[in-house]
Amino acid sequence: MIKAVRGTRDLLPPETALWNFVESAVRDVFRAYNFQEIRTPIFESTELFARGVGEETDIVSKEMYTWEDRGRAESDKRQSLTLRPEATAGIVRAYIEHKLGDRGLNKLYCMGPMFRRERPQKGRYRQFYQIDAEVIGPPSAGSESPARDAEVLEMLATLLDRLGITGWNLELNSVGCPSDRAKFNEALRKALEPVVGKMCADCQRRAVTNPLRVFDCKVPEDQPIIDTLPRISQFLDEPCRAHFDAVQAILTKVGVRFSLNDRLVRGLDYYTRTAFEFTHGALGAQNAILGGGRYDGLSEALGGPAAPGIGFAIGEDRLVMSLQQSASAEGVLRKPDVYVAPLGAGMNSEAARLARELRRHDLVVDLGDETFRLKKSFETATKAGAKYILIVGENEVKAGAFALKNLATGEQVSVPRAELTRRIQE
Ligand code: HAM
Repeated sequence: MIKAVRGTRDLLPPETALWNFVESAVRDVFRAYNFQEIRTPIFESTELFARGVGEETDIVSKEMYTWEDRGRAESDKRQSLTLRPEATAGIVRAYIEHKLGDRGLNKLYCMGPMFRRERPQKGRYRQFYQIDAEVIGPPSAGSESPARDAEVLEMLATLLDRLGITGWNLELNSVGCPSDRAKFNEALRKALEPVVGKMCADCQRRAVTNPLRVFDCKVPEDQPIIDTLPRISQFLDEPCRAHFDAVQAILTKVGVRFSLNDRLVRGLDYYTRTAFEFTHGALGAQNAILGGGRYDGLSEALGGPAAPGIGFAIGEDRLVMSLQQSASAEGVLRKPDVYVAPLGAGMNSEAARLARELRRHDLVVDLGDETFRLKKSFETATKAGAKYILIVGENEVKAGAFALKNLATGEQVSVPRAELTRRIQE
């Protein structure tokens, strides 16, 4: 038997209703903040991620699905392509390519699958889904303002509340600007020198190439060492400090609670200043529902104009997992209101007509077949979870009234055709 590939999975009903519920709430909330949808390709040139996300990150160095694409002719240079591991680099590429800044298109979102070759576990897949949003624009449009950071974070709090997800925690940090980072890296190198020999092979490499990435380490034995290292928060220059203070002041004013986490550096190299994650206690080890931050130099690193930005990506798989534990999930998983059961030869057409009427009134209707015996119709209706079964037999059609049975209580009544909709809606 052929099975889904390791780390990939089928999203099945009824859970797909939760995915749709999430996506439509996202569209509603994002609309209120004037975000518009962009859809970028699933694969891009490898160089985009190497330059955007960073060669030394786990994502680029270990987790990408990359292949050499055949040229049109045998002699053509082969092009290295990669399934997108995240959406920000592609969106910023599109922003530059289509000069979206000139058109005032500075609030963009996209939803779709991403691919990372990580070790699969609960809440971690090789094909997973992100809902990604970015605010990006020329500095003259205020894209550097702490007001944007706070707006994005407040929007996320609103979205999670709207979805009925409680128990989330917003963790906030500032990773400073490139000059802070240079000073910090130097201090880190120094601090690592005497201890790095006791750390994992990845950390030994990071200590040389990109010491900040030591904070990505998940090896338990390394954690006590990492706890003793200096923190980026000690190296923020005055403008970065002021920016971070302003973000916190707005959040406090609008009533979005957060906690500061000076170990949070995020696993992608493009971040500057604000970095954040929303975690959820019920998720286990993979507890980040979403992550994001500011990336003031990314556009320029990709050859574009100065275009500071801030954004985030929600892990939709994890969001749906935390939703399953919330009360709002119950109302979403809608079962058929009524199962229409044609009884006897020639009754399919009459049943189809009735089903059409009921569906026009927004009822969820499932329809049987005239070859089914009554017992089979009842079994099918019960299996589908229908509230009512409506019997459409010759006698009912002649009388103009139909047997309507409540499958939960067993109560059965005869209802005239004209009253059917109202009766079921009640
Ligand atoms: P990220 O932290 O790599 O950030 O991913 C964001 C979220 O995607 C994570 O918090 C998690 O919920 C989900 N996620 C990541 N990897 C997996 C996986 N293997 N399985 C399931 N869920 C996963 C970014 O991707 C940035 N592009 C976010 C961003 C946008 N920053 C600025 N703009």
